[in-house]
Amino acid sequence: MESKLRSATFGRASLVVAIAASAALGVGGSACKKSEAAPVEASASAKSPVEAIEVPRFEIATDTASIDRGKEVFAQKGCGGCHKIGGGKLVGPDLKGVTSRRDQVWIERMILHPEIMTKEDPTAKELFKTHLTQMTNQGVDPKDQLPYLLAYLKANEK
Ligand code: HEC
Repeated sequence: MESKLRSATFGRASLVVAIAASAALGVGGSACKKSEAAPVEASASAKSPVEAIEVPRFEIATDTASIDRGKEVFAQKGCGGCHKIGGGKLVGPDLKGVTSRRDQVWIERMILHPEIMTKEDPTAKELFKTHLTQMTNQGVDPKDQLPYLLAYLKANEK
């Protein structure tokens, strides 16, 4: 009598396990279907990986407060670990005059997603070939930090 009860309990327990397992599979299955449906996004926009890097449009500020803020962000984000502004190459290129040798949008994309640029953009690919180090994505905020970095770089154009 007692053993019968035990096996009945065991039976129920394994049934629960079986249900749980199939439920888990079910969830996995539907997650899989969802990711298969994702390419809609890719085909809807015929943008290249470079063009797909969204950048804010703004006019580069020239006021002292913005330039100073840019200098702070440059230090905060560790740009100075790899770049000098005047004085030559460090790990990466000297950034003096970068705003005159490159297009603003290009610079913004390079700062926001260097890991995409060195794979997809011809100019960035060339830079990577000569510097042999991948610039790291420093997680620059496109709205709160990027415009100030540009102001700082522009202030050091000449
Ligand atoms: C780990 C080192 C490293 C850090 C940190 C880094 N960079 Fe770079 N940067 C590079 C390298 C190396 C290149 C050249 C492309 C490559 O090889 O990835 C480059 C390229 C650039 C370029 C293009 C220069 C040109 O001559 O066209 C800009 C602009 C730039 N970096 C800005 C920044 C800013 C702003 C920061 C901080 C948010 C930063 N970088 C942080 C290494 C770094």
